[in-house]
Amino acid sequence: MKYIFGGNWKMQIPDVKTSVKTAIELNELLQKSQIQNSDVFIAPSHNALYEIGKSIADGELKLAGQNMHFMERGAYTGETSVLSLIEAGAEYVILGHSERRRIFGEENNLINKKVLTALDHGLKVVLCIGETAKERQNGMLKEINYTQLEESLKDVSKTQIRNIIIAYEPVWAINNPALNPNVEIRSATVEEANEAHMLVRTWIKANYGKIEAENIKIQYGGSMKITNAKELLAQQHINGGLIGGASLNPETFVKIIKYVE
Ligand code: PGA
Repeated sequence: MKYIFGGNWKMQIPDVKTSVKTAIELNELLQKSQIQNSDVFIAPSHNALYEIGKSIADGELKLAGQNMHFMERGAYTGETSVLSLIEAGAEYVILGHSERRRIFGEENNLINKKVLTALDHGLKVVLCIGETAKERQNGMLKEINYTQLEESLKDVSKTQIRNIIIAYEPVWAINNPALNPNVEIRSATVEEANEAHMLVRTWIKANYGKIEAENIKIQYGGSMKITNAKELLAQQHINGGLIGGASLNPETFVKIIKYVE
């Protein structure tokens, strides 16, 4: 099974010119490195998607939206339509990122509506789940992640689940002080990550069967970088990474991707 890596640029490169330059550089590096074991996407600022799409048309690098609305169109000030993402060339969309959940108050039922709309339009969904430090300390690892899976994937069919990628991103590991005001931010250890990934696979097996559980890709996200990626990616249940900070530099990002070649 191929690995899958996503560069989640968040709002870190707001201008089109730098976004396009960075994407072209990444695309060329991927080609030069003859990456064969992984699918790779980036989620740039939405304003840059279209231009990037045109400039990387002949490469393997794919595009993702960072979020979207569940309606195709309407009076929704400040939102992005699934149709706009598709027109701009996105094949993926990240939904339920913990920054969306914690900073913008998105809850599972809203995320579920977005998931269903994205799947209906043929996008692949990167569904983010993960517990806070406090929830983990209180022994709620399984409960929190299972509730997020259950409610966010409500009414997703057995055929549709093939277009879902799960990104397990413990909130406490995401390199974002706003999410983690009183927590020392660090990546999950291989044991912590693998345990959670195994739980996710078990949930998929119980709800979608053995074959879907074996085939679903589960990315790890949260402070993944050159120094810890190799051992995380060596874990049986970790099928790639959703990477924020370390994806902004193409060379660093490709070094991580090359660990699984
Ligand atoms: P980080 O972000 O790699 O900067 O911790 C990951 C994410 O939020 O997806």
